[in-house]
Amino acid sequence: MLQTNRSTLTQFLIEERRRFPGATGDFNALILDVTLACKAIASAVAYGELGGAMGNHAPDAGGSVNVQGETQKKLDVLSNEVFIQRTEWSGHLAGMASEEMDLPHQIPAQYPRGHYLLVFDPLDGSSNIDVNVSVGSIFSVLRAPQAVIDSGRDVVEADFLQPGATQMAAGYALYGPTTMLILTVGRGVNGFTLDPNLGEFMLTHPDMKIPPDTQEFAINASNARFWEAPVKRYVDECLAGKTGPRGKDFNMRWIASMVAEAHRILMRGGVFLYPRDTKDPSKPGRLRLLYEANPVGMIMEQAGGRASTGREPMMGVQPTSLHQRIGLVFGSKNEVERIERYHREPALAKEGEPLFATRSLFRD
Ligand code: AHG
Ligand code: MN
Ligand code: MN
Repeated sequence: MLQTNRSTLTQFLIEERRRFPGATGDFNALILDVTLACKAIASAVAYGELGGAMGNHAPDAGGSVNVQGETQKKLDVLSNEVFIQRTEWSGHLAGMASEEMDLPHQIPAQYPRGHYLLVFDPLDGSSNIDVNVSVGSIFSVLRAPQAVIDSGRDVVEADFLQPGATQMAAGYALYGPTTMLILTVGRGVNGFTLDPNLGEFMLTHPDMKIPPDTQEFAINASNARFWEAPVKRYVDECLAGKTGPRGKDFNMRWIASMVAEAHRILMRGGVFLYPRDTKDPSKPGRLRLLYEANPVGMIMEQAGGRASTGREPMMGVQPTSLHQRIGLVFGSKNEVERIERYHREPALAKEGEPLFATRSLFRD
C-alpha cells in the first residue's frame, strides 16, 4: 500500500540537492543508478534456488577464486556485473573498483567519462547466501583526481587510494527480510525501505543515530588465540559481565555478514570488531579498507558512532593498495573509544599485571 506521507529516494535526493544550487544532478543520477543495481541484486537474491544463481561460480572448473584468494559465488560475480552494467554507461564515472576485480574497471570507449569513482563490495557476507541469511552490497563514491577528469585517461590503482574522509557518499543495501538502503552524502544517515510493489526506496528511517553506549558486541571468537592483548582484554571484560570491571552483562552476536552487523549497530547500538590479529601475517585484518571499512566507517561517523583501526580513526588512514585489508572496529562511540584507549595503553596490559589489575587505580 502506498504511504503517501513518505518521500521516495528520488524526492529525497532532489530536495537535498536544492541546498546546493550549483549542483548538476550528476551525483544524484549516479546514486539512483547504484540503487537500481541494488534493486536488481535484491531480486536475484530473493529468487534463491529458483533463480539458478546459487552455489559457486564456474562449478565445473572447481570454482573461481578472486584476487582475495576467496572462492567466488555465482551471486558475487552476477552482482559485480549488475553494478558495472547499471553505472558504466551514464557518463558520471571516471572508473570503478570492486572486491571481485583485481584491477580498476575502465569505462568502455563508447561512453563518456565523468567526475566520480565508484568503489564497491557487490555482495558482502556471500558465504551466507546458501543458508538464506542476510547479505548486502556496500559502496563508496570518491571524486576522481582532477588530472583524471581533465585528461579523461584510464584510471589506475593510485587514483583510488584516497582516505575515507574524502568520500562524497557511502551506503549499503541490505537484503534481509526487507530490502533496505542506507545512505550518507555527508549530512547524516538516512534509511530507506524498498516497497516491493512500487520498486521504490521509501524514506523510513530519517537521520539515524547510534546510541553512544551499548551492552552488545560482535567478534569472531574462533580467532581468540590470535588476538592482540588490547582486544583480549576488551572481550574478557565484556565476558566477565556484572562481576567484572565493566559491572554489566554483555550480549554477543555474530552474523558473518559485516553489512548486517553494521545495520544492527545502526539500529540499536553495539560494537563490531574484526581486529588486526596474528593469524596470517600477510593479512593485517580480514576486511578491506576501500569498499568495506571506509564506507561503513563514514556511515558510522555520520550517525554519531565511531570507526577505527583500533589505533587510529579509519577515516584518516591513507590507503596503500586497492584491496588492502585492515583491522576494523566500529559502532557505539564510547565503546570504540574504550577499545582505542586499550590499544594506547602499554603492551604489558595482561591479566594479573598490578598496574592493570581489576581494582587498580588506573582502571575505571
Ligand atoms: P565478503 O563476503 O564480501 O568476502 O565479506 C565477508 C566478510 C564480512 O562480511 C564478515 O564480517 C566476515 O567476512 C566474516 O568473517 P568470518 O568468516 O571470520 O566469520
Ligand atoms: Mn565483504
Ligand atoms: Mn563481497
